[in-house]
Amino acid sequence: IGVVTYTQDDPFINAMTDQLKENLKKMETDHMKIITTVKNGDDNQQDQNEIVEEMIDAGCDVLCVNLVDRTAPSRIIRMAKQEDIPVLFFNREPVREDLMQWEKLYYIGCNAEQSGIMQGEIVADYIKNHPEVDKNQDGKIQYILLEGEAGHQDAISRTDYSVKTLLEQGINLEKLSYQFADWNRGQAENRMSRLIEQYGDEIELVISNNDEMALGAVEAYKNAGYMQSDYPVIFGIDGLDDALEAVRLGTMQGTVYNDRETQARKIALIAVALFRGNDVSVLGLEDERYYMAQYRKVDVNNVDEFLQK
Ligand code: GAL
Ligand code: CA
Repeated sequence: IGVVTYTQDDPFINAMTDQLKENLKKMETDHMKIITTVKNGDDNQQDQNEIVEEMIDAGCDVLCVNLVDRTAPSRIIRMAKQEDIPVLFFNREPVREDLMQWEKLYYIGCNAEQSGIMQGEIVADYIKNHPEVDKNQDGKIQYILLEGEAGHQDAISRTDYSVKTLLEQGINLEKLSYQFADWNRGQAENRMSRLIEQYGDEIELVISNNDEMALGAVEAYKNAGYMQSDYPVIFGIDGLDDALEAVRLGTMQGTVYNDRETQARKIALIAVALFRGNDVSVLGLEDERYYMAQYRKVDVNNVDEFLQK
């Protein structure tokens, strides 16, 4: 099984890939050894295509691909189809038209819209229960939004739906700034440090498309010399261990669990079923091609359940 990710330094993807390897290992039997090779595309679609080609030449039976550019899967699809090797795309969703090009293409991920709605709901609940979030008491919440990656399905929908949900819940918002930080903690810290210089105590809320960037915002406040009680409220998505710990400690107020266990397990189950020529329709796929895991809301009240995993 050839697994190729878009980069080597995305903690969520690495955590999910580790789980995938464990799952595949557990599925070995006396009669079936599973050899998993994991590589990354180094943020370059061209490079990723070449890695896929090498994996095919090396004789892999199933491909699991986390595309660099989700709009450019054509070359990979063509190569795989030629050798009759099924492809399980995950996390970076090809457009439907591409996935329908051949019957042995699958997608395992989540419904991005759901994560945005859930994030909006957690933030709204928190604000309703904590009027002190509105530091200057002007009836509006001044906010910053940290965005993942331009063009990524999760960044687009999370941004849209978290804000839309907050407005629907009757929260009065005032946008200070939206900044792309590529899902990355360091980049978010830099962006946030500049915003702190610019806006200071005006910032009351930070909504982040993922946890790594939310943690970058926490770092920025720490480095700017703020006491924890003076931080704005900060929300992420993914439920990575560092973020769960931050929610427990109160440097972050909430996150949305991006269920990497279920996604990794499904990828492993589908990959092995395809290898054995078994029927995959029993695995709960939508439109015979899609498996979408459910997100879950996390805040200080239930964070311990997730930390114990
Ligand atoms: C998202 C996840 C981000 C990042 C991205 C990469 O689902 O929330 O943290 O890993 O996928 O494609
Ligand atoms: Ca305010």
